[in-house]
Amino acid sequence: MKKVVVLLLCFILLGCTKNYYKELGYDSKTVKKIESLKDNNQVFFSEYNENLTNIINNEDFIEDNLKTYVLFVDLLDCDTVIRLVNNKTLGEFNLNRINEIINDQNYDENHLEEYLKYYPRTSESLLIKLINNDRMDEYPLIAKLASDKGFVEDNVDIYLKHIEEKETIRELIEYINSKAYLPPYENEEKADTDKYGYLVLVNKYYKLAEDYKPDDLVEVESNYGRGFLRKEAYEAYKKMQDDAEKEGLSMYITSPYRSYDTQYKLYNYYLSIDPQDIVDTYSARPGNSEHQLGLAVDILSPGYDFGNFYQTKEAEWLKENAYKYGFIFRYPEDKVDITGYKFEPWHYRYVGKIAKDIYDSGLTYDEYFEKYIK
Ligand code: DAL
Ligand code: ZN
Repeated sequence: MKKVVVLLLCFILLGCTKNYYKELGYDSKTVKKIESLKDNNQVFFSEYNENLTNIINNEDFIEDNLKTYVLFVDLLDCDTVIRLVNNKTLGEFNLNRINEIINDQNYDENHLEEYLKYYPRTSESLLIKLINNDRMDEYPLIAKLASDKGFVEDNVDIYLKHIEEKETIRELIEYINSKAYLPPYENEEKADTDKYGYLVLVNKYYKLAEDYKPDDLVEVESNYGRGFLRKEAYEAYKKMQDDAEKEGLSMYITSPYRSYDTQYKLYNYYLSIDPQDIVDTYSARPGNSEHQLGLAVDILSPGYDFGNFYQTKEAEWLKENAYKYGFIFRYPEDKVDITGYKFEPWHYRYVGKIAKDIYDSGLTYDEYFEKYIK
C-alpha cells in the first residue's frame, strides 16, 4: 500500500511539473529538457521567458551552471550569458556590478568583458568611459586619484593636466576642486544667496551683487562688539561668546556686516598703501567679501589686534569650538593657496549646523562647497 502511495505522489508531482511549464508557454522540447535536469526546481520561473528557452536549448548549455544563468537571464542575451557564465567571467559575485554596468548611459555591449575584467577602484561609470575611450593605461593613476576623499569624477582631466604642479594627490585635488588653479576674478560666477542661503560661497570666483544686502540684519549689542549681523548668525555668536566667557575667555566682534560700498572704500583705502597683488592677499574686492553676507565676523580679544590675536587662548578656543555654534574658520595658515587669503585667525563665517561636517572633513569651505553643496 505504502509503495502505491509513493508511486502515485511521484506521478502527480511529475505531472504537475510538466503541466506547469507547459501552461507557462514552454514548448515540449524545452519542457522535456527541464524535466531531464537533475534539479529542475532551480528554474523557479513563474512566467514564460524566451531567453531561458534559448539558454536551456543552447548547445553549450551546462546543467551545473543553470542557477547562474538564471541570475542573468533578464539582463543579457542568451549567447552572452552562456559564454560569460561558462568561462566564469559572470557569477553571483558580480550581479550588482552588471546591473550598474548595463544601466550606465555609456554602456557598450562590445566592451562588456573588459568592464568586468577590471574591478573598479573608481566608479563603474568612470571605468566604462576609460575603457570606451581606450584610456586604460591611465587607470592606475586615476584609481589613485579616486581614492582621495575629495575626488570629483568630472574633474579627472583637469587633475591629470595639473598633476605635476602639486606634490601630493590631496593637494592636487584640493587645488582643482576649489578652483584655485583658475585665475581669480575672471569669469566669476554669481554668489547665489537665493539658491544656497546660509551656505552660499563667496570668494574670488563667486561674487555678490552690488545691491545684495540681507534683510534680517540686527544690531550687535555693545557687550558683544559693534555693527550688524544676520539674526541667526548673531544669536549663534552670542551663545559662543557667552560659553567662552564661562571658561574665562574674553572676546568681541570688531567687524561684522560690511556693505558693498564699505568694502569698496576699504579695498581702495588699502590700495593707497599697498600694491594690488598684496592687497588681494588680505582684503576681498567689493562683492567678494563674506562680510557683505552679514554672516562673517572678525573677532578679537581685548588688548590684542590683528597682528597678535593668533597668540591668544581665545584664537585657540575658537579654532576648536566655533563649529559647535555653526561657525567655520575660513582662512587657515596652511590653506593660503586654496583660499587666496593670508592666515586670518580672527575671521569666522556662519553656516549653521553643517559647520560640524565641514570641521570634520578638514576641507576648506571653498572645496567643501564645490564637492558637497553645489
Ligand atoms: N579679509 C577678508 C578676506 C575680507 O575682506 O572679506
Ligand atoms: Zn573678516
